[in-house]
Amino acid sequence: MRKSLSLLLLLMPLVSQGADLANGERINRSCSLCHGIYGQGASGRLSPRLAGLPQEYLVKATKDYLNGKRNNPLMVSTTGLDKMSDQDIEDVAAYLSSIDFSYDRRFDVVQRFGGSVDNGKEIYGDECDTCHAKNGAGKPKKEAPPLRGQHSEYLFQSMKMFQNQVRIHDNDPEDDTFNEYSDTEIMDLTAYLATLDNALLVDGKRFVPPRPMMAAVSPQPKVQKKHHGGLRITDITQTVAQMPLKAGVTKEDAIEAMLSKAVELNLKLVGRQDVSKELEARGVETPYLSIFQFCNPMDARVMVISNPIFSSYMPCRISLVEDQNGQLQLMMLNLDMLINSELLPGEVLDTAIRVNQSMLDVMMAGASGEF
Ligand code: HEC
Ligand code: HEC
Repeated sequence: MRKSLSLLLLLMPLVSQGADLANGERINRSCSLCHGIYGQGASGRLSPRLAGLPQEYLVKATKDYLNGKRNNPLMVSTTGLDKMSDQDIEDVAAYLSSIDFSYDRRFDVVQRFGGSVDNGKEIYGDECDTCHAKNGAGKPKKEAPPLRGQHSEYLFQSMKMFQNQVRIHDNDPEDDTFNEYSDTEIMDLTAYLATLDNALLVDGKRFVPPRPMMAAVSPQPKVQKKHHGGLRITDITQTVAQMPLKAGVTKEDAIEAMLSKAVELNLKLVGRQDVSKELEARGVETPYLSIFQFCNPMDARVMVISNPIFSSYMPCRISLVEDQNGQLQLMMLNLDMLINSELLPGEVLDTAIRVNQSMLDVMMAGASGEF
């Protein structure tokens, strides 16, 4: 045991000389709150896909939020990006860049929301493919990112930002590519771009989620894999996803936003415990704590038919809790652990990914007060 431990320690500097994927994976847990566990992003809420984007582009784009070229204070504050080292940013970019599910039909979720594919194709051929490539894969030499596989709403919004000079296209403040386009033409472009990733699909080929790599390089394995009876041990901080409420968002705002979002996503509020209120009624002083329970019965059914142990995760809970500094935090079990577990067969994996994403969406709505 000792021997293999020191051997691992010896090997570690070698591993981290380039990018440290295990560190990247760990950091990605905070990104997954908005971008999805695998950086898949989400359609309909302006959350771009990060998986498979070139590492250099991801690093550059991430730093643009820190140097003020792009603007997303909530992303910076929830992840602590401003306190991360350059190496951390390299590592998470390398991890996200290494994820490829483009061949898997289940991730073919780029949805067209209108527009003419033919018209979009014509504009793209005339104006875009010199930099973003004919197949939409982007050209690293021109620092132009891939556009295929990216969510339509995000692409639409990005082009509007270029047009309105809120974001700089082609790293050129003078760029006027989008000045003349109507909203219809921009929509047509997204319609065409949404078709490009279909060429990558391979029937029957399924994405295998990357296994947690922490255990492989960490001197103290965090997750005890084999079950020898007794309690299985996991590092508890890894099982929880956490977000502070944005400055100015009150508990009432957060609760209203969460409940509205849940209705929108077809999640039923099946329980609510105002723990601190109850205690205060008894005259006990206590930090704020409310627990919200959500469930979608159809999803619960799929999970339990697959394996009854999943019932222990139900209903999904989000707690609103005041920490030691008086800051309100939202917390939930991150189903990430479950999704990465070897227990999950295909259709259950789909459900687990979707449920986790919905719960994160509810939490996001609460943290930002927006829905
Ligand atoms: C609170 C939600 C949230 C969290 C958490 C979050 N992001 Fe984002 N991220 C967004 C949104 C929204 C955008 C789109 C903003 C825009 O239009 O510029 C974005 C955009 C990006 C982009 C630009 C993508 C592109 O195609 O140009 C990168 C890169 C990125 N995020 C990296 C990260 C990383 C790395 C983390 C974790 C350390 C992270 N994000 C965590 C919400 C989030
Ligand atoms: C001269 C090269 C060039 C041409 C031509 C060009 N682009 Fe770009 N484009 C870039 C570069 C470089 C970036 C990356 C900007 C950055 O780092 O923020 C970019 C970024 C984008 C993005 C943002 C992607 C993301 O993930 O955030 C979109 C959308 C986009 N371009 C669409 C288009 C469309 C549509 C056209 C044609 C109408 C076009 N571009 C033509 C170079 C080009």
